Amino acid sequence: PPSPRLVVGNWKMHGLREQSGRLARAVAEGAQSLPDDVRLVLCPPFTQLASVHGIINAEGPATPLRLGAQDCHTTSSGPHTGDISAEMLADLGVRYVILGHSERRQAHGETDVLIRQKVEAAEAAGLIPIVCIGETMQERLEGRTTTVLATQVEGSLTDGFTGILAYEPVWAIGSGTIPPIDELERTLSLLHGLLQSRLKTDDIRVPILYGGSVTPAQAPTIFSIGSLGGVLVGSASLEAESFLRIAEAAS
Ligand code: G3H
Repeated sequence: PPSPRLVVGNWKMHGLREQSGRLARAVAEGAQSLPDDVRLVLCPPFTQLASVHGIINAEGPATPLRLGAQDCHTTSSGPHTGDISAEMLADLGVRYVILGHSERRQAHGETDVLIRQKVEAAEAAGLIPIVCIGETMQERLEGRTTTVLATQVEGSLTDGFTGILAYEPVWAIGSGTIPPIDELERTLSLLHGLLQSRLKTDDIRVPILYGGSVTPAQAPTIFSIGSLGGVLVGSASLEAESFLRIAEAAS
């Protein structure tokens, strides 16, 4: 398997001060006994980034924990009320940023063009973008999965992209259902091919994550796919125990 494997926790819009602190501390403590080929990325809401950074930092340089954010603006500063730039995130100690999550594509009308601009901004600030792509149930039923993924890979990545790709079938998010494992394997090799042609190289170093209803129960099956770079976890990342069990399965 690609090493280290990444287990990314997307907390979404969850977490007041006390529970966020408790969750981050419990993950940090449990992470001390993880094998060293696993890296954990905690992506709290903007409001908790600084305090979670403090908790991660207290673990010292050997910690497998990293800090991630859930979005950034396309520019580094300016008259954009309510927005947060990649530069501001980097300044706080953030290392990764999730971009183009389907919830933002849907609820905020984010397009591939916009996401690509955000990827450029993240790269310029030295952040590692985690770009989300994935088909909806309707697109899947219409047999359009390949076209949709090809369009998203083509449109949302930069030419010299060196970040991370997260495949999240929209219909699998929060549903308790994951794609059949042979189908997921085929999709991963499709994505690998799409990355080769998008980035014009056979030497692809972009890890591909799977996201959508990843649970401790499903994790061993998901991680049995050797080429998988890791997982993007939503609700199961909100409890330290389930998040850590997923991380244990990653090794
Ligand atoms: O970013 C995470 C995904 O949207 C998956 O969420 O694990 O709650 O299905 P979920």
